[in-house]
Amino acid sequence: MELKRITHAENVRLSDSGRAVRILDQSRLPNETVYLELSQAEDLYEAIASLRVRGAPAIGIFAGYALYVLALQSQETQYGPFLEACRRNRDYLNSSRPTAVNLRHMLDRVLAVAESMPCADVPSIQAAMGQAARAIHQEDIAMCTAISEYGLSLVKAGDGILTHCNAGPLATSRYGTGLGPLFLAKERGIPLHAWCDETRPLLQGARLTAYELQQAGIDCTLICDNMASLVMKEGKINACFVGCDRVARNGDTANKIGTSGVAILAKHYGIPFYVLGPSSTIDFTCPDGDHIPIELRDGGELKEKFFSAPVALPQVKCYNPAFDVTDHSLITAIVTEKGICYPPFEQSFAQVFGRPEKE
Ligand code: MRU
Repeated sequence: MELKRITHAENVRLSDSGRAVRILDQSRLPNETVYLELSQAEDLYEAIASLRVRGAPAIGIFAGYALYVLALQSQETQYGPFLEACRRNRDYLNSSRPTAVNLRHMLDRVLAVAESMPCADVPSIQAAMGQAARAIHQEDIAMCTAISEYGLSLVKAGDGILTHCNAGPLATSRYGTGLGPLFLAKERGIPLHAWCDETRPLLQGARLTAYELQQAGIDCTLICDNMASLVMKEGKINACFVGCDRVARNGDTANKIGTSGVAILAKHYGIPFYVLGPSSTIDFTCPDGDHIPIELRDGGELKEKFFSAPVALPQVKCYNPAFDVTDHSLITAIVTEKGICYPPFEQSFAQVFGRPEKE
């Protein structure tokens, strides 16, 4: 079968000098294409907190590079002080956003390299940290490809897929997770139609998902979040594909605010609801969704952002949780790079990942 490879925007990589992280500033899409090179700790932190780089896997890739870039700047020549500085940088970057566990996992992975080399000189440790950061990036490409293959096996030509937020190449490395099957289908000439929830309040569905699907020539329609029920009732949706920020041991899944509502609607209409994500998004230390920290963001995002004039009076109180948890009972399957996990998830995770059902 002819494969027409789609070119994906390079959202995160090391700069040409190798001493900064280069990102496509997602907060300015779709109107402006701006690349930033970041090397200062405060700028790296701000890029995550302000969603210039966003999406759980992309945050993880970025964080790996960020820790490495900061390690390169260290003036310490002795192992102990160098490691302490790396640990401080890890803690600082890790505090930028609380929900996506990939951030912690990838920072820990790059830090673990430094922790495992007590007898090495600092330049050798720095080089090994760089290798680990690059490996995280390469592995993500392979994981997204495998997830996309598994996801594509769950749908058929002509299906309508509803998605929420953005789980495409911009949120990962290549293909994406929730959007991965759509990109793969496009490359293979299989027609699918994407329905994109706009995803209030920051409009990742409108600004990013519709943008990257459109750019790739994938058939898509943008809807407001409150239209999903009608579109499902009209029979336009055959499956829901969403990404994830943290999956608990029992399958409860945190993803962008509004995802759990989509899952409840899907259950009502008898539509399969699939969560797609790499195994680095599963937090085996977290027993269930009640233990997932939910980010609370500034209310200004509801009142002011992205509109030419404010949409509410300044004194209006706002509540702005950035994520919600979808109960595992609403999830048809969790699609990972190692395979498709069906309920009960503690058992299928144990089978697929070879981990004990309890940790
Ligand atoms: O606040 P965001 O834009 O970082 O939220 C992103 C999501 O909720 C994505 O669906 C999730 O991170 C998975 S990305 C493959």
